[in-house]
Amino acid sequence: MKTSAILGTGSALPAKVVSNDDLAKIVDTNDEWIRERTGIVNRRISVDETVTTMSIEAATKALEDAKLSAKDLDLIIVATITPDGAMPNAACKVQAAIGATNAMCYDINAACSGFMYGLQTAHAFISAGLLKHVLVVGAETLSKILDWNDRSTCVLFGDGAGAAVLGPSENGILAIEGGADGVKGVALMLGNRPLVNPYTKHEAVQPYVEMDGQAVFKFAVRTIPHILNSLSEKTNIPLEDLDLILLHQANKRIIEAAARRLKLSEDMFPMNLDKYGNTSAASIAILLDEVNKSGKLKNGDKIALAGFGGGLTWAGLMLEWKKD
Ligand code: ACO
Repeated sequence: MKTSAILGTGSALPAKVVSNDDLAKIVDTNDEWIRERTGIVNRRISVDETVTTMSIEAATKALEDAKLSAKDLDLIIVATITPDGAMPNAACKVQAAIGATNAMCYDINAACSGFMYGLQTAHAFISAGLLKHVLVVGAETLSKILDWNDRSTCVLFGDGAGAAVLGPSENGILAIEGGADGVKGVALMLGNRPLVNPYTKHEAVQPYVEMDGQAVFKFAVRTIPHILNSLSEKTNIPLEDLDLILLHQANKRIIEAAARRLKLSEDMFPMNLDKYGNTSAASIAILLDEVNKSGKLKNGDKIALAGFGGGLTWAGLMLEWKKD
């Protein structure tokens, strides 16, 4: 077995749907502005759901899809910047719930790139022959760290979780690419001030998202082509030969701008940010699960995944789909 492949996927979303019009009731915004600037129409906001409960649900579905049992797992990675608590980590909570008694467990904090960093870590362990089956979850409750008075950030994000199980395979991941620029980290970070969550009524002095939106926009539009061109060079696969490219779902305009820069059809870039907003580490995982379950992918298809976010961080990979 010379590489690793994605053997199964799953996802989980909070029940509560919050529309742009709903947000206009609590902050000075409107549906037209949000749709035109971002493409977002609805998002899911957790009231009873947590990173732990959604991770467990997504993980269980991914194991079912992979036709594996929890005891087959050697490692669980949860990518999140909003764990329910720092200790025990989110991965250990998933392990306890699903009975993955043979797994090591840790979390990755790399914001919206976290799921991609997790997939890369799983790939490294598996392709080196050190581990066999790895569960990677991307899960966030960004709603808990938003300033709901700040219209420039609170309209962008949503909650959710997605998961993938990876295992050894003859065909699968072909190349990885990633990096970080800590010097520019101030463009997207957490501050501290008293905040009230209007959906849970929870009030606390807590971290909240602060963002230089235009700086992040420019970073994203430059970084996505960098990741994808690098993957193309490493694999000798022209980007136009790919079947699909799954990008972090931050903003429709970012995805359209990246497609234009790369001279690729927008049809290659599936999107679900209209339904869920930006779910940070969960976004590519949820999109991958939707694409997988929709039956759009067949064995032999070539796809790329790429994410970017706080840190600043970025990561991507190219793979040949090989599931059953
Ligand atoms: N509703 C109505 N008006 C608003 C809103 C809102 N929700 N938010 C900002 N505005 C106003 C501003 O106050 C400003 O008004 P002014 O001209 O009177 O000062 C005007 O709209 C334009 O604001 P800009 O910030 O210039 O708008 P821009 O076109 O840059 O769009 C946006 C803002 C959507 C945030 C964009 O910069 C963006 O998408 N950036 C990338 C953000 C991102 O993707 N972040 C996450 C990536 S990393 C991660 O996922 C964690």
